[in-house]
Amino acid sequence: MMIRDAEDGDWPSIYPFFSEIVAAGHSYAYPADLSLEEARAWWMEHPPGRTVVAVQGSTVLGSAKMGPNRPGRGAHVATASFMVDSAHAGRGVGRALGEHVVDWARRAGYRGIQFNAVVETNEVAVRLWRSLGFAVLATVPKAFDHPEHGLVGLHVMYLDLEE
Ligand SMILES: CC(C)(COP(=O)(O)OP(=O)(O)OC[C@H]1O[C@@H](n2cnc3c(N)ncnc32)[C@H](O)[C@@H]1OP(=O)(O)O)[C@@H](O)C(=O)NCCC(=O)NCCS
Repeated sequence: MMIRDAEDGDWPSIYPFFSEIVAAGHSYAYPADLSLEEARAWWMEHPPGRTVVAVQGSTVLGSAKMGPNRPGRGAHVATASFMVDSAHAGRGVGRALGEHVVDWARRAGYRGIQFNAVVETNEVAVRLWRSLGFAVLATVPKAFDHPEHGLVGLHVMYLDLEE
């Protein structure tokens, strides 16, 4: 597996698992039923943001996007989002993408990385981010409408890169 910058031509390979993950409703509050073209702008970042793909040969296994969490006076804190194709889950792709983002943010001089909305019932993700050093700073109660659990909390998770 290797991680590289995503190109425009990768989007049709990302879109099927982007759509599946959004439709499952367990992890992201993106609008439902976005078309290929509508969804593109929600995932494919432009500088200073960046979108990467984890690939094995010509197969896209997963993707991450990253960039400043806020413009202007908030631009020294990064943020990121992650999606791994369920067909390739549980094989270390998510961890490799997470480590890639932490390395990128550190090299780019960000002071920290903030995840704004980690669904508290998304145990695999919460455990993975904790293992990379992220802490839950706060949980916004009932901020995510989960299809099975109802209203659940959204964690704000943070990694201080200056420690
Ligand atoms: C969360 C996500 C990115 C993880 O990606 P992944 O490639 O499956 O994760 P990895 O294979 O790197 O596994 C990471 C850890 O979680 C564990 N894990 C993965 N899937 C698991 C499962 N279904 N049940 C229990 N543990 C699991 C792995 O054992 C691994 O732990 P370890 O490194 O201590 O052994 C992926 O599941 C995903 O895209 N989910 C939907 C979107 C999402 O939730 N994005 C993150 C939002 S904050």
